[in-house]
This record gives sequence, C-alpha cells and structure tokens, in this order.
Amino acid sequence: MKKIKIIATGSYLPEKILTNDDLSKMVDTNDEWITQRTGIKNRHIADKNQATSDLGVIAAKRCFETYGIEPETIDAIIFATVTPDKLFPSTAIYVQKSLGILNVPAFDISAACSGFIYGLSVAGGLINSTSMKRILVFGGETLSKVTNWEDRSTCVLFGDGVGVAVVEESFDESGIISVYIGADGNMEYLLHQPAGGSRNPATFETVEKKLHTIHMAGNEVYKFAVNTMQMAAEKALELAKITSQDIKWFIPHQANIRIIDTTAKYLKVPKEKVFVNIDKTANTSAGSIPIALDQMNREGLLKKGDLILIDAFGAGFTWGAAVIRW
Ligand code: UT7
Repeated sequence: MKKIKIIATGSYLPEKILTNDDLSKMVDTNDEWITQRTGIKNRHIADKNQATSDLGVIAAKRCFETYGIEPETIDAIIFATVTPDKLFPSTAIYVQKSLGILNVPAFDISAACSGFIYGLSVAGGLINSTSMKRILVFGGETLSKVTNWEDRSTCVLFGDGVGVAVVEESFDESGIISVYIGADGNMEYLLHQPAGGSRNPATFETVEKKLHTIHMAGNEVYKFAVNTMQMAAEKALELAKITSQDIKWFIPHQANIRIIDTTAKYLKVPKEKVFVNIDKTANTSAGSIPIALDQMNREGLLKKGDLILIDAFGAGFTWGAAVIRW
C-alpha cells in the first residue's frame, strides 16, 4: 500500500477578532467564566461577505506561495466542513472555481470536527486506488454564520478559520503511519443544526426559532469527547505500533482546554508536548487540526522525522486520530 505524506500546509483566520469582553456585552457572560471553563480568550469571525470557501482560497494561496505549488498539479480537492457555502454544490467546487483547478474531482466531507482526519483517510484511499498523485485536503468553517448569538452556552465556544494540507505519495520515511476514524449516530441529537436540511427545511418558523443554529448539550458532549478522544488516540497509536511516549507532539482538536488537558493526562502525554491555540482560535471544528499543523509548521516546531499524534472528536458523534511521521 502507498504511504501518503503532507508536503505543504496553509491556513487562514479572518481578521476580525471577537474577545471575551466583546461577548460579555452581547450575552450574560464574562471573561473569567469563558477562560476557566474553556480556555478561550479570542475567536476570529468571518466578514459578512466571506463564506467558508473564501477562507479556504486564501489558505490555499498562502500554501501554494510558500511551498511553490502549481495549482495545475492538484488532482483532487476535498473540503471537510459543516458550514458549506451552500447546501449544494459543495464548498470544494467554489474553491476549485476560484483557484482555477478545473476538471479534477471536488467534493465535501461532513464529519464535523473530525472532518480533516476523515479527509486525510479519503485522500490516502484515492491515491491508492486511482492515478491521482496530489490532493488538496481542506478543513474549516465559518461557524459564526450558524451561531445563535443570544445563546451564551454556545456562542462563546466557536470561531472561524480554514486550514489546508497538500498530500501525495511518500517515497521516504515521512508519512501517515496510521489513521483510525469512526462514528456513532446514536447521540446525533446532542450536537446538531436542527433545521435547514431535508428533515426540517427552512421556514419562517424554523428561522424564528433559530433552529438553523448550533444546538448542543455541552455537558453530555463533554463526557463523550474526553473518553472518545482517548480511545481514538490509543487506537491510532496501536495501529502505528508505538506508544504515547514515542510521540514528539500531540495535536488535539481544540474544543475546550479541559478536554485537551484531560485527554493528554489519560494518554500520559506531558503538557510540553501538547499543542494548544484554543485561546486564540476557539473551536474551529474541522479547521482545528489543519490550522494547528500550519501554525506549527510555520513556527518551525515540526522537524522531519518527528512523530505526531492528531486526534479529534465531533458532532455525529464522529472521531478520528492519526500518527504522522513528519
Ligand atoms: O467540538 C466538539 C464538540 N464540542 C465540545 O466538545 C464541547 C463540549 N462541552 C464543553 O466544552 C462544556 O460542556 C461547555 C464549555 C460547553 C460548558 O461547560 P460546563 O462546565 O459543562 O458548564 P455547564 O454547561 O454545566 O454550565 C454551568 C453553568 C450553568 O449555570 P447554572 O445552571 O449552574 O446556574 C450555565 O447556565 O454555567 C452557565 N453558563 C454560563 N455562564 C457564563 C453556560 N454558559 C455560560 C457562559 N457564561 N457563556
């Protein structure tokens, strides 16, 4: 089987920053509660005219420029998101149009916060089963567009941003050593957007009741998040035939600093190996891991040969973890 590797990364966080103090003027909350319960200080918010694909296009352009990638060398575009530009066609289609990478397959993956890891897995499958050589895998959101800004239990948690990775077959030691993805639909109602799809098409009533925004039973989700992220990470480590002691970096989905700390503790990963940027980005769902990878890459934190564990959990529930040799 062909091993695939990430050869380039990019990301984009919108310029507008919303602070905890800003939020305390909008709903009954405060910086202390948000910081203590979530670790979040700031989140980036897309402009009124910016859709998810627009963020993706900037991320991709940055990636192409930095790594000297020619758009015509891309064989497929995969976009992991739950905040597509439109319900159809896919967000990947709009990225394709803007970047001018025409005639290659372009499609979205809906796996919430685990979407980027699902995307890496699908890209590996395509490289192994077709003549495709180089695939763009995006993960990211404009969750601000589906946030209920009157609901303090959710509006403080999310942010906008997109990350991207270019993957291709590896001919050296670098590459994705293991990927483990899964889902359990039994608890879908704990985190979802109730209206806007075919179950509850948009009506005046659904809009009035804000059913097209994020609905989450935070407490319940929290418990599943901690246990599932541990389970997924252990599975990916086992598949890679290594232990958590072998890894240089643990890059968890950035949903809540308490979930990150507890998962790291369960996995026996010391704090200095855990990448955290939730204070600046909040939860960007599918954007979380590729944005982190790009930030670390640009900061020179990822060295060739390093073993990295990425780990995510999200609505569905879905989960995914992977071990990567950089
Ligand atoms: O991306 C993957 C999916 N998402 C997640 O993984 C999120 C998982 N869940 C969480 O991170 C946490 O459950 C939250 C951060 C959402 C909430 O933290 P919590 O410690 O579970 O708080 P809680 O929901 O139990 O609420 C505690 C109190 C409540 O007040 P009472 O009933 O004790 O009087 C809430 O009404 O905090 C109140 N509260 C707030 N207070 C100030 C809820 N939101 C806020 C707020 N500001 N923003």
